[in-house]
Amino acid sequence: MRVEIHDARKRFGRVGALRGVDLVVPAGGRVALVGPNGSGKSTLIRTLLGLIDYQGTVLLDGRSPYDDRVEIAAQLAYVPQVAPALGATVDEVVRLVTHTRDLDAAEVARVAALFDLDLARAGSQPFRNLSGGMKQKLLLSAAFAARPSLMVLDEPTASLDVRAREQFFSMCSQLDADVTLLLCSHRVEELRHLANRVVALDDGRVTFDGPVDQYLQANAALAAEVAHA
Ligand SMILES: Nc1ncnc2c1ncn2[C@@H]1O[C@H](COP(=O)(O)OP(=O)(O)OP(=O)(O)O)[C@@H](O)[C@H]1O
Ligand SMILES: [Mg+2]
Repeated sequence: MRVEIHDARKRFGRVGALRGVDLVVPAGGRVALVGPNGSGKSTLIRTLLGLIDYQGTVLLDGRSPYDDRVEIAAQLAYVPQVAPALGATVDEVVRLVTHTRDLDAAEVARVAALFDLDLARAGSQPFRNLSGGMKQKLLLSAAFAARPSLMVLDEPTASLDVRAREQFFSMCSQLDADVTLLLCSHRVEELRHLANRVVALDDGRVTFDGPVDQYLQANAALAAEVAHA
């Protein structure tokens, strides 16, 4: 799915969270969104998914995610930075996802098992009672099982254990070539392994847009982290 954003602006009261962002990602692009806390990464993601109102133009395969959300939604998968505190049980969440996305529950369970998450065992627990990592695993399982055209992952590995992170890397590498991946990340290893392009935000503006190597070279502190990895 092709992503086009022109002059996106978003204010929260006096805070200019996005102050004129332009971004075009062709289908199959693998983009890491980076930048300091509060720079606007999650806001940009929520804007392009049509989850919040904004000024400017956002087009996903030429359509507005805000106005055409029903048509677009079936092609999107989104794992938010903070999982919603759902009182529904894991079974109910899986049923909701499989029903709305026309998925087989067995496929979600299969992907979850790759993350060492046993959905049958967790089934009767309220989603909000799962550990942070288990919530992330369940949401990632649903996202991968849905086989979207645009995969949007906001800090997806923040709570994952080492094995699950490796599994996540492997699943990303197996995505079809035309799947667009947008990933918010503070981790150098994710930039290097999952992205071919870095878009850096600072204070609601794009401050860098280019190849991963170039970004790492330009950021000495990150380069040092790579050297010691
Ligand atoms: N719902 C909201 N209401 C008010 N202000 C908000 C809201 N969401 C974001 N902001 C503000 O917008 C700015 C950008 O926030 P955002 O969450 O997009 O940053 P981020 O780059 O994702 O940061 P982090 O690395 O901490 O996840 C911040 O100043 C934040 O306080
Ligand atoms: Mg964020």
